[in-house]
Amino acid sequence: MNSPSDMDLSSLPKEKWWGEDYLCQVGDFWLLPQFIEPINRVINNFKPIPSDVILASFPKTGTTWLKSLLYSIVNRPSINRLATEHPHELVPFLEVQLYASSKEPPLTITTSSKPRRIFATHIPYQLMAKTFDSSECKVVYVTRNPKDTLISTWHFMNKWEKAKEEPWSLDEATENFCRGVVPCGPYYDHVMGYKDMSIERGKNVYFVTFEDLICDTKRHVKKLGEFLGCPFGDNINEEEQVEEIVRNCSFEVLSNLEVNKSEESPSWFKLPYNSFFRKGEVGDHKNHLSMDTIGRIDEITKQKFHSSGFMY
Ligand code: A3P
Repeated sequence: MNSPSDMDLSSLPKEKWWGEDYLCQVGDFWLLPQFIEPINRVINNFKPIPSDVILASFPKTGTTWLKSLLYSIVNRPSINRLATEHPHELVPFLEVQLYASSKEPPLTITTSSKPRRIFATHIPYQLMAKTFDSSECKVVYVTRNPKDTLISTWHFMNKWEKAKEEPWSLDEATENFCRGVVPCGPYYDHVMGYKDMSIERGKNVYFVTFEDLICDTKRHVKKLGEFLGCPFGDNINEEEQVEEIVRNCSFEVLSNLEVNKSEESPSWFKLPYNSFFRKGEVGDHKNHLSMDTIGRIDEITKQKFHSSGFMY
C-alpha cells in the first residue's frame, strides 16, 4: 500500500471522477491531486498537543456547523466572533489552510496551547492514525446520512467554475459516490475509520451524526462541553449560554449573516463564502434521487455499516 510519505504523484493510481478530471489513490482513499502534498505535510509535521481539538469529517457532512459550535463552546463567553467572521476562518482546515503551502506553517501551529486550538480536517483516520495515536488531543467526528451527503456534494461541486462548461451530472455523481471515487472517498471507509477509532479511544473521540445534532442540538452542546473539559453548569446563566450557542450556530442565523452571504472567495479556496450554506436539512435526497437509487445506496449502506452496528 502506498502511503502519503512515499508519494510521487505520477506513480499513484488514478481514476476519473468528473469528466476528464481524476483523483489519485493514497492508501484506500481517493484524493484531489492538489491536496496530496498538503496532506503529506500535515501527516509528517503536525503534532497535536493534548489540549487541541480536531474536528474531522467527510466533506459536506456538517463541518461548517460543527466548526461554529466547537468555536462557541470553547471560547464562551467571549464576544460572538461568528457574527463577523466565517466559521472556516475561525477554525481552519489543516490541509487546506494551514499546511497548504510548503512555507512554514503559521504561528497557530507552532505556538503552545493558549488560546485553545481547534483545527479541522477531511483527512481519513487511516492516513492520520499515527498523528492521532501519538496524542491525547480530543477528536470530534461528524457524519451524515450518505444520501444527503451525496446530494450536498453534488450541489457543491456544481458551484465550481468547471461546472459552467461541464456540469457534474447526478448520475455520474451517484455512480462515483457508490464506487467511492469522490474527493476523500470512499465515504463509508472514511466514516468507519473514525467510528472504529471512537470505539477504541472512547474518551478522546466524540462521534456524532448531523441528524442527531439537528434532533437535539442543545443536548449535544452540553455533552460537547463536558467532553472538551469545559462543562456548562446547571444555573440559569449557563443554561442561557447553551441556548445562545444553539441559536447563534443555527442554519437560519448563520446563513443570514453578511459574512456568510458573501460572494467573495477566501484566499485559500475557489468558491465563495456563501457556498457552505445551502439548505441544512435532513432528507433532501428524496427531492433528487429515484427510488431505485435510494434502494441501491441503502443496500451498500447495509453492507458497509450494519454489521458493525452502525445504522443509517
Ligand atoms: P446542504 O447542502 O444539504 O444544505 P460542510 O460544512 O461539511 O461542507 O457541509 C455543508 C452542509 O451543511 C450543507 O448541507 C450546508 O447547508 C449545511 N450547513 C451549513 N451550516 C449549517 C448549520 N449551521 N446548520 C445545519 N446545516 C448547516
